[in-house]
Amino acid sequence: MDHFSYQNGSLFAEQVACKDIAESFNTPTYVYSRATIERHWKAFDDAAGEHPHLICYAVKANSNLAVLNVMARLGSGFDIVSGGELARVLEAGGDPTKIVFSGVGKTEAEIEYALEVGIKCFNAESEAELYRINQVAESLGKIAPISLRVNPNVDAGTHPYISTGLKENKFGINIDDAVELFKWANQQKHLKVQGVDCHIGSQLTDLSPFLDALDKLIVLIDQLSDSGVTISHLDLGGGLGVTYNDETPPHPSEYMTVLMEKLSHRIDLTILFEPGRAIMANAGILLTKVEFLKKNEDKSFCIVDAAMNDNIRASLYSAWQNIIPVVPRDGEVSNYDVVGPVCETGDFLGKDRELSVEAGDYLAVRSTGAYGFTMSSNYNSRVRAAEIMVDGDTMHLVRQRETIESLWAGESILED
Ligand code: LLP
Repeated sequence: MDHFSYQNGSLFAEQVACKDIAESFNTPTYVYSRATIERHWKAFDDAAGEHPHLICYAVKANSNLAVLNVMARLGSGFDIVSGGELARVLEAGGDPTKIVFSGVGKTEAEIEYALEVGIKCFNAESEAELYRINQVAESLGKIAPISLRVNPNVDAGTHPYISTGLKENKFGINIDDAVELFKWANQQKHLKVQGVDCHIGSQLTDLSPFLDALDKLIVLIDQLSDSGVTISHLDLGGGLGVTYNDETPPHPSEYMTVLMEKLSHRIDLTILFEPGRAIMANAGILLTKVEFLKKNEDKSFCIVDAAMNDNIRASLYSAWQNIIPVVPRDGEVSNYDVVGPVCETGDFLGKDRELSVEAGDYLAVRSTGAYGFTMSSNYNSRVRAAEIMVDGDTMHLVRQRETIESLWAGESILED
């Protein structure tokens, strides 16, 4: 459940009218609901009950400082994939000892930075990366806490671009090779083996791949124990899907309950989760204004001021996100492709949408709180959108719209 709803014929974010936000801050603008973020985060945390656990929000879904700060205040952990994300979490008041560092290509500088600030764990993704972490830790005279991301070879049944747990994907270590590598890591003076982790994909709408992966990881943890390698935490990654259209993913509490039930006797293991989308997607919308309506021979276009550079999910993954009027009209509906001003045929936010609209109306693209702003760009030299967080009856500007000058910040021209 989220806190975006129609009240007296107008779309509201909590107690703030979205029309007021659009008029105050212009469009395109992302709007996040604090109450929704908190509700979703707590759904994960509460369902884990008393079992030792840590919800490590996946920063890549939405890394605005205000969003990270809301999580930090809840006591959240964080899953990061770059030095930039690490800096953001610290800037937002996140606790470094609750950060896990994922990603297949950590640089020496990133590893150094993470060791200096004392993160909870490196989720190493290959033998070569593990060697590098060991070397950097040695050069700093530190001990790096590590987990190995294993690839359990399960089919997540999601879009191929966001499926990560199959043998042919670039992620993780083949589960059959894991024991040997763990044994090696266990002997290194500058590594401290702590965990096993996996992440099998994103936008999963079925529990069975998660359960299959969990079964395989439990077998591995027992094999490791027999080989003298003690594992203190199990990180099950993120990946729980959300309802964009007619998907029926399990509720976070159902997902957590089913997984935690399987682990109830493993009190020796702290369980980590890395949800991103399930917390943020439906905690955000993208407000946009209709610039023009245009009719070609057999197609009608609703041309809006947001584009693929603001929200690339439709163009990149053929993703479907609901597009609704901020103040619905009574008039007749027509079928539109909702498109942006970018010079690409692939620049659309939604196709074949039944809308009753006129130029000047505001629309909201729903479920855009995750992988919306964080995947935005300056393509076509478009400034990136403003971001607002609503908290009850108050709207806070949490990222200014970029300025034209910021478009060339850091650039220079040749002197002669
Ligand atoms: N942990 C790791 C190691 C990940 O790679 C990811 C996402 C997550 C956690 C969080 O997954 P989530 O709970 O959000 O599914 N841009 C794509 C999604 C890419 C996800 C990449 N990894 C999209 O817009 O659908």
